[in-house]
Amino acid sequence: MKIDRSANVVWHQATVTRERREKLTGHRSVILWFTGLSGAGKSSLAHAVEEQLYQSGCHTFVLDGDNVRHGICADLAFTNEDRAENIRRVGEMVKLFLEAGVIALTAFISPFGADRARVRALVPHGDFLEIFCDCSLEICEERDVKGLYKRARAGEIRDFTGISSPYEIPPNPELIVDTGTLTLEASVAKVIRFLAERGVIGQSANS
Ligand code: ADX
Repeated sequence: MKIDRSANVVWHQATVTRERREKLTGHRSVILWFTGLSGAGKSSLAHAVEEQLYQSGCHTFVLDGDNVRHGICADLAFTNEDRAENIRRVGEMVKLFLEAGVIALTAFISPFGADRARVRALVPHGDFLEIFCDCSLEICEERDVKGLYKRARAGEIRDFTGISSPYEIPPNPELIVDTGTLTLEASVAKVIRFLAERGVIGQSANS
């Protein structure tokens, strides 16, 4: 975002606050920010965690890179600049979900530490929980669920993360899930346990 045109716009304070919404739902709202290479299993894990949370009565929503890029970010490509703008927009969106009292799960490669840090800085301390889906490039490439790695290797796709564009490993994520070797079930259990330990959900939801 190059120009901020909000100077003459006045913030309207809601009476139904996040705190009141959290009281209604019975759980805290947080951002679970899944990051990792394409094919690392971010979306599968985010949706499976959401399923479990939903079954425990939590209010949830998943923002997924492949979907968001068909809509609000359909004008963006994969240059460093466009990825930064993609993550900036997602950050602003997910902040609204936080205010709405929702457990918001995001699945974006979000390869750059600075972009992730900007989203973290948008919300109160402790509300942005970074979950690194740790899966090696070799395994992602072997899986190649969408056939994109093959096309990137063939030079058909530019700026492909891990091949011709970097991925910066998070130095201090709140959680690391070894999605390269763990089963989906074990990965979900690890995230749910983590949420219970953090007091986001009650211990009873962790079963
Ligand atoms: S991000 O880097 O801006 O965070 P995002 O998560 O939105 O990326 O989108 C990644 C998805 O777009 C990948 O899972 C893959 O399916 C698809 N994709 C298409 N082109 C590329 C590319 N050049 N690099 C990475 N992913 C790509």
